[in-house]
Amino acid sequence: MTHYQHPIDAAQHPAWQQLVQQREAMHDFRMQDAFANDPQRFQRFSLNHDGLLLDFSKNLLDDTTLDLLMQLAEQSQLHDAIKALFNGAPVNASEQRPALHTALRRPIGDSLVVDGEDLIPQIHAVLNQMTEMVNRIHNGLWRGYSEKPITDIVNIGIGGSFLGPQLVSEALLPFAQQGVHCHFLANIDGSEFHELSNSLNAATTLFIVSSKSFNTLETLKNAQAARRWYLAQGGTEACVDRHFIAVSSNVTAAIKFGIAPENILPIWDWVGGRYSLWSAIGLPIALSIGMSNFKELLAGAWSMDQHFQEAPFTQNMPVIMAMLGIWYSDFWQAQSYAILPYDHYLRNFTQHLQQLDMESNGKHVRQDGTPLNYNSGSVIWGGVGCNGQHAYHQLLHQGTLMVPADFIVPVVSHNQIADHHQWLYANCLSQSQALMQGKSLEQAAQELRAQGLDESEVQRLAAHKEIPGNRPSNTLVLERVCPRRLGALIALYEHKVFVQSVVWGTNAFDQWGVELGKILGEDVYERLTKQAPNTATDASTQGLINFFRNRHRG
Ligand code: F6P
Repeated sequence: MTHYQHPIDAAQHPAWQQLVQQREAMHDFRMQDAFANDPQRFQRFSLNHDGLLLDFSKNLLDDTTLDLLMQLAEQSQLHDAIKALFNGAPVNASEQRPALHTALRRPIGDSLVVDGEDLIPQIHAVLNQMTEMVNRIHNGLWRGYSEKPITDIVNIGIGGSFLGPQLVSEALLPFAQQGVHCHFLANIDGSEFHELSNSLNAATTLFIVSSKSFNTLETLKNAQAARRWYLAQGGTEACVDRHFIAVSSNVTAAIKFGIAPENILPIWDWVGGRYSLWSAIGLPIALSIGMSNFKELLAGAWSMDQHFQEAPFTQNMPVIMAMLGIWYSDFWQAQSYAILPYDHYLRNFTQHLQQLDMESNGKHVRQDGTPLNYNSGSVIWGGVGCNGQHAYHQLLHQGTLMVPADFIVPVVSHNQIADHHQWLYANCLSQSQALMQGKSLEQAAQELRAQGLDESEVQRLAAHKEIPGNRPSNTLVLERVCPRRLGALIALYEHKVFVQSVVWGTNAFDQWGVELGKILGEDVYERLTKQAPNTATDASTQGLINFFRNRHRG
């Protein structure tokens, strides 16, 4: 097994120090000049892999910077870290375990021995179990308590047990099988349960309780509510196993909840929640698009895995994207990063990346516990284009903050309506162009003069119309949104996040920060519901508890 090296302070790498100087040297760098001076800039700063095109030419980047970023990756021992990740070394040091989501994508017949055990046969055994379940449901052989076939699937889960499956099921709606509808129930907010359950027929609904830990408050509460609802609607205790299945690594807790052992699909502790859509947590995906499409999704991700392992860093999509992110976060002090998919079916992509990136890279210490003296993960935000253009793009164009962005767009639409797709594609490209070009004060003034405004009006308005430009973005073009390309796209971001964690020396696979809120939540709940003394440790929390209690008095 490859041993995982404890990371060192990235700022001590010679390349880091040189990048600090390079940032100064690039003070007057203008992307537009770089394009004018180099007709090959697009060819030199773009990559293709398996139906995905990454154009990274609209970045604050020249050859020297790219070279230094690649040196930084080398000096961070990225080659060894990639091997460690894929071979099952304990890259998640705080929890002393590997992060083997890539194993889930390996083809049948492959082998990956970790701690003396080949994981691939187990993984494919679970895929077979999934196939069997999916076939029974799709073929109408899985019957509810009144012997009717299942028409609706409700995935009860949150975080990684929700966002990935929801993203993929919705993104691949054009590939959905007839007859089965997938729904997602994540929040503990009773209104979500109310609205969803109102639209369902208990006799033909199957619930998947999807929780790696089987210990997540929101999921357990919703699962209990679903069970009560099912019984109230006429379902019987004897038939619970026809309506509730689970995906979990905590089989004991799932059985205790009342799930039949044969209805529990396993997930391993070496699969992190936000990396779990490739496992049985992806069951709602498979139920939506069928097993062969699910396997295409895995194949697309595996293709990206191979590219990541084999391509030289200068030709390696995840490495390039990761190092550009570090360039902006640590050397230009960018604090947020926009993800802008120009495709209706990818509308949930940003949310999935929020968890993937922010739970993975929202860290303040290195793997060895030493504090970071540089920035780690950025705030990930954004949403579907063109809608964002009429909302938050103003800040991207003229705000004081630098916000690097990824534009994501397919070449082919699933739904060609008149020339809508040409307009959508044109808008995507013109936004990144506008971010780069901007408009100088002089250009703005000239346009106003050309409109016939007198000079005092020109002077009054020109500054407002000036657009700084020189704002960086990547553009990712998919041939179309299909299982294979989507698998590759998601895996691309998983690896981007991993590369960044390697350079920063952080652990991309734990999430201790979310625990405190959970514990305090229990305390506040006890005080709200009067099971504990009504004395919170701070006046703000106490005041807010009182407000709630007064409203619910008597
Ligand atoms: O609270 C954060 C988290 O642990 C995520 O990392 C995870 O994806 C989510 O909760 C759900 O966890 P589980 O699948 O164990 O219910």
